[in-house]
Amino acid sequence: MGVSSKNHCVSHSVLILLLMFIHVYGSTGYNSTIFAGQSLNGNQKLTSPREVFEMGFFTPGNSLNYYIGIWYKKPGDKTVVWVANREQPVSDPSFSALELLENGNLTLLSESKTAIWSSNSKSNVSNSTIGMLLDSGNFVVRDALDSSLVIWQSFDHPTDTWLPGGKVGYNKLIHRPWRNPQNPAPGIFSFQLDQNERKNLLLWNGSKMYWTSGYWTGTIFSFVPEIQLNQYVTNVTYVSIKNESYFTYDATYSDALTRFMIDTTGQLKQYVRGKDFGRWNLYWMRPSEQCEVYAFCGSFSKCNLYDTPLCVCLEGFEPKRRNDWELGDHSDGCVRKTPLQCTSGGNDRFMTISNVRLPLNSESLEVRNGEECRLACLSNCSCIAYAHDDQCFTWKGNLLNIKQLTASERVGKYLYLRVAASDLTETKVVKRKTPWIVLVLVIVGLFSLLIVVAVFVKRRYFVGESEILEDSLVVFRSRDLKAATRNFSEKLGEGGFGSVFKGSLPPNSTAVAVKTLNSMNQGEKQFRTEVMTIGTIQHVNLVRLRGFCTEGSKRFLVYDYMPNGSLDSLLFQSSITVLDWRVRYQIAIGTAKGLCYLHEECRDCIIHCDVKPENILLDAEYNPKLADFGLAKLIGRDFSRVLTTMRGTRGYLAPEWISGEAITPKADVFSYGMLLFELISGRRNSELLEDEMEHYFPNRVSNSLQKGEDILALVDCRLEGNADIQELTTACKVACWCIQDYEKNRPSMSFVVQTLMGFAEISVFPVPMFIQRLRGRPLEAVNYYQPKSSGSG
Ligand SMILES: *[C@@H]1O[C@H](CO)[C@@H](O)[C@H](O)[C@H]1NC(C)=O
Ligand SMILES: *[C@@H]1O[C@H](CO)[C@@H](O)[C@H](O)[C@H]1NC(C)=O
Ligand SMILES: *[C@@H]1O[C@H](CO)[C@@H](O)[C@H](O)[C@H]1NC(C)=O
Ligand SMILES: *[C@@H]1O[C@H](CO)[C@@H](O)[C@H](O)[C@H]1NC(C)=O
Ligand SMILES: *[C@@H]1O[C@H](CO)[C@@H](O)[C@H](O)[C@H]1NC(C)=O
Ligand SMILES: *[C@@H]1O[C@H](CO)[C@@H](O)[C@H](O)[C@H]1NC(C)=O
Ligand SMILES: *[C@@H]1O[C@H](CO)[C@@H](O)[C@H](O)[C@H]1NC(C)=O
Ligand SMILES: *[C@@H]1O[C@H](CO)[C@@H](O)[C@H](O)[C@H]1NC(C)=O
Repeated sequence: MGVSSKNHCVSHSVLILLLMFIHVYGSTGYNSTIFAGQSLNGNQKLTSPREVFEMGFFTPGNSLNYYIGIWYKKPGDKTVVWVANREQPVSDPSFSALELLENGNLTLLSESKTAIWSSNSKSNVSNSTIGMLLDSGNFVVRDALDSSLVIWQSFDHPTDTWLPGGKVGYNKLIHRPWRNPQNPAPGIFSFQLDQNERKNLLLWNGSKMYWTSGYWTGTIFSFVPEIQLNQYVTNVTYVSIKNESYFTYDATYSDALTRFMIDTTGQLKQYVRGKDFGRWNLYWMRPSEQCEVYAFCGSFSKCNLYDTPLCVCLEGFEPKRRNDWELGDHSDGCVRKTPLQCTSGGNDRFMTISNVRLPLNSESLEVRNGEECRLACLSNCSCIAYAHDDQCFTWKGNLLNIKQLTASERVGKYLYLRVAASDLTETKVVKRKTPWIVLVLVIVGLFSLLIVVAVFVKRRYFVGESEILEDSLVVFRSRDLKAATRNFSEKLGEGGFGSVFKGSLPPNSTAVAVKTLNSMNQGEKQFRTEVMTIGTIQHVNLVRLRGFCTEGSKRFLVYDYMPNGSLDSLLFQSSITVLDWRVRYQIAIGTAKGLCYLHEECRDCIIHCDVKPENILLDAEYNPKLADFGLAKLIGRDFSRVLTTMRGTRGYLAPEWISGEAITPKADVFSYGMLLFELISGRRNSELLEDEMEHYFPNRVSNSLQKGEDILALVDCRLEGNADIQELTTACKVACWCIQDYEKNRPSMSFVVQTLMGFAEISVFPVPMFIQRLRGRPLEAVNYYQPKSSGSG
């Protein structure tokens, strides 16, 4: 280990000798410096003065190639933060050398003594430069005497990692991921500054941007809000000097190391390693969903978030480079197994790919129907796929960015892919529709129309029963509801918007819950429109709306009845049934899924606005179902007034409700976090706020996590310690994360789902800022205080 002198020097200047003396004998016993004329080879290393980083030859994974790189020195952590010769590895480090030439040019010589990489730096005074590895992870080539005369530094030539103090900009300051974990050559994605000098950071692959930090129009310097509002990062600064613009940041959190890197997955990830932590933990990442990385799976393949492997070639295609593909590098995509014929006879067929997000870069054609669209595509050899949905779309070249959607996502489309006839699976053929089929369809269609009309007329004018609208939403008459609920005799609950009564509907005595709505000053037509929208929203974790009633000023909503009632009664009242941990965790996941559906998967994003145990209903198997979604729109402007003054709600409201800022889906995330704490403790958070701040449950959890104390001690005592420690820890961390002050710092519901299900990991958690604030200013805690007795449906 060390630095060897390549040429025996006779005429070193006295000062440099002195410097060397100080260096070798004065400090740690490690060398952080390489002098002009010296080189580094074999397993010799440079070590930064405080032993944070090391530099030398390394070999990634099982690769047989060697690279010059910088990595963390901590035992067991060989995370590489910089690579010199990304694209030109050497095979034998003992016969290769990284040499600092006398003219200040840092050069990597291969086995054959040819320069395969160089810094191209030049000093105007011979033998006057040194190369030094700093504790920041920066390797600088500078004047031996004047540390400010830097002629080259690795921070100006980043690879994939953005360290504190490092730069991200454009040109040389673009960060690119490794191709795969064994090959540091630059991948197709990049993390950089916007070319148009608009002072924001973005992720892109050269043709398409897929994440941006958001613009800031400040005048002096600019911040990246998402990154700055981050416990481990302070002062994200925009620098523009001479002809160079870049962002840099400080990480003042002394007990932890942090780094950003653009991963082979195309995602920007921030990792944190606490002082005593053995490994790095993922703290933040964008885009949080892998399939959102543009063209992540390459051409002719599908991205499926809920499947492993994530990327699969379309049928009839195979990976272009199987080795790279299996290492997770999908950039080369998939290629056809059998080339297309495209003869006039038409040996090609179309294969149906169902329920996908369509690829980008389509062209649209003017045609009258799907069949014409198909024919148009078939007759043009450059057309490789089509889709028909009011309009005819065709694709040529390659297909990128296809995402497989789940059954619950209704926005999926059919894509018809051109394949050679021999590659077709029988069942997926799109058969030529012969005219007589069309004729039969027309006749059947007419027939059904007649029947529908007949039924409708009959219902309307002869029977006078409740009307059935699309998606089986029933319009009830108020006297039927009165009868069904036996004159509203059995009350299930009461909330700010009205009361809920149990009822049973003929003919099978189906149990329903009838909600009466107060404070409705909405017109009947508008009410119907909104209710119809709510009626189309169906998900296993949402309570199903069966119908409604609107007569004069009366408004009712009719829902499925949930035999196990609402979560608050099971959780907070000393009932005989104690929800065990498994059920609680299922409730946590199910509720998150329901919210995720409302936020991200419906046609229009719906913010629930009132997530609390009273609104989580449980079916016979204790599956959670969210109630009252869509009410915010139904109630309109009065909603927020009712909400902020309603008993039993304040403890769950995000700070932005009280400060009057815009409400986003992240308001639900906050309430969800509060709910998660209550699932863990079995008590209302607000109840414990009455005593001392120390007893406040979110505070206790965040303290315990911080100190690494036993979390099991915090869990509801009725569980007698029977909880899965991994799940419990995850739930605690997620909860802390959800109740961040700033909505931007809270995770999305989809990330919450992934984390709870173990797909994503957060091991370092942020201390909820509002708790920190509360610790300092107990008076503000009043916002989160509410009387014990509460209830709302
Ligand atoms: C540091 O470098 C000097 C000169 O190249 C060498 O003599 C010495 O052994 C090195 N020290 C260590 C600890 O490697
Ligand atoms: C630079 O140092 C090398 C030995 O390391 C020596 O051979 C050479 O003469 C020096 N050049 C100057 C200009 O001092
Ligand atoms: C540095 O060394 C490389 C390799 O020998 C050479 O191609 C390059 O021109 C040199 N650069 C300077 C500035 O001397
Ligand atoms: C060498 O270059 C630096 C700037 O890079 C300059 O400040 C210095 O005066 C130069 N020295 C000589 C001797 O030319
Ligand atoms: C962007 O991604 C696509 C698909 O992998 C690729 O074909 C294209 O070359 C990429 N663009 C750049 C500039 O790398
Ligand atoms: C943040 O950066 C600005 C400008 O560089 C500096 O004035 C300020 O002291 C820094 N603040 C902190 C907390 O480091
Ligand atoms: C800035 O750099 C760009 C390319 O890097 C160059 O085209 C331009 O002329 C430079 N402008 C100035 C003022 O040096
Ligand atoms: C075939 O499709 C391509 C691309 O959509 C188009 O440019 C070309 O004009 C078409 N050729 C014919 C013969 O329609």
